[in-house]
Amino acid sequence: MKNLSAIILAAGKGTRMKSALPKVLHPLCGKPMLAYPIEALQQIKCPKIVLVVGHQAEEVQKKTETYKGLFYALQNQQLGSGHAVLAAEQTLKKESGDCFILSGDAPLITSQTLKKILKLHQKNKHALTLATFKTHLPKGYGRIVRNAKGLVERIVEESDLVAEQASINEVNAGLYVATLPLLFEALKKIKKNPLKHEYYFTDLLQILRKESHSVGSFLLDNSEELQGVNSKLELSQAEEKMLTRIRSHWMLNGVSLQNPESIYIENGVKISQDVTLAANVRLEGKTQIGSGCIIEQGALLKNTILKQNVKIKAYSYLEESIVEDKAAVGPFAHLRPGSHLGKSSKVGNFVELKKTQLGEGSKASHLSYIGDARIGKNVNIGAGTITCNYDGKNKFQTILEDDVFIGSDTQLVAPVKVGKGAYIGAGTTVTKEVPEGSLAISRCAQKNILGYGKRKKIK
Ligand code: UD1
Ligand code: CA
Repeated sequence: MKNLSAIILAAGKGTRMKSALPKVLHPLCGKPMLAYPIEALQQIKCPKIVLVVGHQAEEVQKKTETYKGLFYALQNQQLGSGHAVLAAEQTLKKESGDCFILSGDAPLITSQTLKKILKLHQKNKHALTLATFKTHLPKGYGRIVRNAKGLVERIVEESDLVAEQASINEVNAGLYVATLPLLFEALKKIKKNPLKHEYYFTDLLQILRKESHSVGSFLLDNSEELQGVNSKLELSQAEEKMLTRIRSHWMLNGVSLQNPESIYIENGVKISQDVTLAANVRLEGKTQIGSGCIIEQGALLKNTILKQNVKIKAYSYLEESIVEDKAAVGPFAHLRPGSHLGKSSKVGNFVELKKTQLGEGSKASHLSYIGDARIGKNVNIGAGTITCNYDGKNKFQTILEDDVFIGSDTQLVAPVKVGKGAYIGAGTTVTKEVPEGSLAISRCAQKNILGYGKRKKIK
């Protein structure tokens, strides 16, 4: 959109979060809080966004660098919201047109609402339009004082309230559209609040009014969107609302969620239709779930891709892995980064895989550790198999070619290779290459000492 810009305020300390992490970087459904207003603005094609940073500015900048069209303005001292907006002047001095002002700590804002308020601002040619909402808990918000004509007269901050204003239930949402360059001229006229010694952005109203500029308001019907996050309690409440949106979205797109309130799905996750998620499933990062997959109770998937008709059984933990069609994992399995399971393969209970390729139809069904391995098709790995991939310094690879059969309780001391169709006898420690089609067995031959039990008892 032409002649559009935005300022996001993110310089505040966020004292009430009681955290070393800057408030606006606290994560909500897998993204820092600040990402949401940025993305909402990008969705309406706002070409220039100025982020006002101050407290831990470097960290905030580092975490947002990947966004295009983002500029930074430093507010060295946090002298109030009016002072913060003015910090963006240098970056926007050549701009004209409409400018959004948003808080970095209100992540639930949607692009639809931004569009609506902008439309109203443009239609009425206001100098400033502010969003308001009604609440039975107005504490902490600036109260909206309207005149006899119903127009917004001014905003009174909590600390400046007089008795009869305390009952006002319409409050300032902290979301504005202003017209440039008038905004910055007017901001310079704000005086320090005598009580708080801060420059209140909200004093702009009277300044504009006095100079006969029009100020409009937009009453939000969904106050949830402008709920600010000031504490970890409010963070969890905002996250729950975000989760409700995400869950509803996927259910309306053909995903079955059992006991949906217990399911956690982050913002970057993609799910196809006819997927079933049982209770307490957690999907994080850029996880993708193909159609027909079933994920049972309590499984956690991080940046993992499931192709179609995969089954993840209860309490499995998958990170940065790929699982091809019709494969099955778990219960209680652990796929660590770099695991790639072929079609119709199987990883069973108490099996851990790391940086391992498991070929089509291959199985590791019970109690095994397989790391740094390349495993062909139709390989059967017996219970209790271990790849000894680490000598304390370096990692080594194990190669199992197609149709290999590994007996139970085998150790594969890497680097080592087992040729196509070879067999390993149970209890073997494999230390050197096993040729194709052969049997390797390293345990000592069984010896039976007759009468031993009886003799032992006599002693
Ligand atoms: C502000 C409004 C209040 C409104 C409420 C909505 C003022 C004076 N009051 O109050 O009317 O109801 O938001 O949530 O504006 N910030 C800076 N630098 C500063 C001060 C603040 O960047 O020097 C940033 C904060 O990081 C925050 C935003 O501005 O993102 C709002 O500041 P905050 O102190 O939280 O204002 P409120 O008291 O919530
Ligand atoms: Ca606030």
